Amino acid sequence: MKRAGSRGTFGVIGKYAGFAAAAVRQRGLTGALRDVVSEFWFDRCHGLRTTLPSEVRAREAGYSQQVEADAVQYQGVPPRIASAILSHFPESAFRATFVDFGCGKGRGLALGLVAGFRRVLGIELLPSLVEIAERNLCGLRLEHPGCEVRVEAGDATEFELPTGALVAFLYNPFRGETLKRVALRLRYHAAAYPVWIVYVNPVELTTFTAQGFTVEREHRRGGRVEAVLLVPSPIDSVPATSMPISSRRRPAR
Ligand SMILES: C[S@@+](CC[C@H](N)C(=O)[O-])C[C@H]1O[C@@H](n2cnc3c(N)ncnc32)[C@H](O)[C@@H]1O
Repeated sequence: MKRAGSRGTFGVIGKYAGFAAAAVRQRGLTGALRDVVSEFWFDRCHGLRTTLPSEVRAREAGYSQQVEADAVQYQGVPPRIASAILSHFPESAFRATFVDFGCGKGRGLALGLVAGFRRVLGIELLPSLVEIAERNLCGLRLEHPGCEVRVEAGDATEFELPTGALVAFLYNPFRGETLKRVALRLRYHAAAYPVWIVYVNPVELTTFTAQGFTVEREHRRGGRVEAVLLVPSPIDSVPATSMPISSRRRPAR
């Protein structure tokens, strides 16, 4: 997956042809086709329209150059990968709030609900994608009465984390400084509450390990790590120098 950016029609076609070629290289033709079929099937079963990728023009939505530079374009998470990693979660984790950072059109949130989370929240940069996610989640809301499903428009670095245990779901939504800021906030949340991080396509895994998270499980295919489950190491490993100015004091346990 490439970073967001603006380009002409031919550039866009070339880019998607590049994605298709990369998928075939990584998974073989049969594996890539199987993934496409399973994505369509998941969407069809749950009344979603999440398959088409979408460019992220964050500047047009009023965000800074940094936010746009770090953003990764919208592409729905492959259900096969997300379900595989969520299937190893302990029962207690399903009482946590499931937060999809960069929820796009809502496929990750749908997977969270289907997996058994009762409170799922999405934060997404682009209001246009939030609208699509809201439409996509209508049917699942009816099928899961009593569950809280909420989607907000905004920058993930500004998102106020809900109190309590948290499952943070990230399908390579952003990189660089933006990812660092989110990782740091998760680290502080982890000082007070249980936190599990599902990072699919973990291209900047070291951002989390630098914050003291450790890989508890890897999901691999064809020698490639497709997703990881991260959990916090003990609080004492939080490097004092990386504390944000506003929270230099030690967080409550
Ligand atoms: C690869 S898609 C992930 C889609 C979704 N999580 C899923 O699993 O189907 C990345 C999404 O992150 C969003 N995004 C990028 N930077 C963001 C930021 N700073 N805050 C919130 N969302 C962001 C993009 O707009 C895009 O929709």
